Amino acid sequence: MAEIQIRNVAKCFGSYQALHDINLTIADQEFMVLLGASGCGKSTLLRIIAGLETQTTGEVWIGGRRIDHLPPKDRGIAMVFQNYAVFPHLTVFENIGFGLRMQKMRNDEVTRRVTRTAELMHIEQLLTRYSGELSGGQRQRVAVARALAMEPDVILMDEPLSNLDALLRLEMRAELKGVLAESNTTAIYVTHDQVEAMSLADRISVMHQGRIVQAASPVEVYRDPAERFVAGFIGNPPMNFLPARNTGAGRWAVANQVFDGPDVPATALEFAIRPEDVRPADEGLEARVRLVEPLGAHLLLTCDVGGAMFRAILDSDMTVRAGDELKLAAMPDRIRWFDPDTSLSIA
Ligand SMILES: Nc1ncnc2c1ncn2[C@@H]1O[C@H](COP(=O)(O)OP(=O)(O)OP(=O)(O)O)[C@@H](O)[C@H]1O
Ligand SMILES: [Mg+2]
Repeated sequence: MAEIQIRNVAKCFGSYQALHDINLTIADQEFMVLLGASGCGKSTLLRIIAGLETQTTGEVWIGGRRIDHLPPKDRGIAMVFQNYAVFPHLTVFENIGFGLRMQKMRNDEVTRRVTRTAELMHIEQLLTRYSGELSGGQRQRVAVARALAMEPDVILMDEPLSNLDALLRLEMRAELKGVLAESNTTAIYVTHDQVEAMSLADRISVMHQGRIVQAASPVEVYRDPAERFVAGFIGNPPMNFLPARNTGAGRWAVANQVFDGPDVPATALEFAIRPEDVRPADEGLEARVRLVEPLGAHLLLTCDVGGAMFRAILDSDMTVRAGDELKLAAMPDRIRWFDPDTSLSIA
């Protein structure tokens, strides 16, 4: 059992606070992804769990045991770093087997595990090469294989696929998901790539400026962002926002339209809808098209709605030109509302 609990963890570097009161429980064998922009604190949180950085306050528990006072090697964790650390003067075989040798594991077991993980990472043909002679992507795969070979209770991965080309990255992502689903490992995986996060995660923790703003399944993060930040971060392009004015009894004026919304006393809210959740219709938000970008399967329109920028994703067989005026109907069950003061979603 390797449930991970992060309790009230904060981290200051001098006067700079990199993490604010992080509370997160990762279930045994769960695949958790930490997703957020550069500098939001992902690596810092991972390094605190691994014991490579000391938290300023708070506790880390694994499998019901407080571990934040233990040295890294006693935490039962394998880690793949953002700057993958492989030893250039060792062969790929010895790099992958390094941790196993440290544990004084029998030779035949080392060989079995190294061969198996090398095959998983498609580097079995490189086993006798010196790691200094590898490409960046190959080295990264050696680092992942070395962590997997440990068969750890917990594996922490910091952007482990960032140096691979797009195709290989897609392939490795699927492999990694398969390997970890078969093992009994609890995984935390850091990325700033939301597609990668969506495809890998059981749950995603969206981080912003040293805080976790939402921890939920990929579908939930996409459909029901808890905060405006999440709505404006997830999705490509992300949600559209329009100002909404209360006209009483749960009716809200948005540009040229009036919508049913939350029955709350606020005078103003933000109306939000995804670009893929609008359709051209006889009745809808009046939109003037500014830019048309054909994306193959779809057309991405950048429009002006009531003076605000508004994006729409439409079927590629539509004929639309810059300067056209359209009406865009928002799918009622996909509309979300945010409180402009707290930035929180309103159910
Ligand atoms: N040793 C340090 N001393 C001072 N500030 C640090 C230190 N390590 C990290 N920071 C700062 O803490 C913040 C969080 O850094 P962190 O490395 O956790 O970000 P990240 O989310 O992993 O970003 P990236 O996606 O770029 O890797 C950053 O503003 C960074 O400059
Ligand atoms: Mg980082």
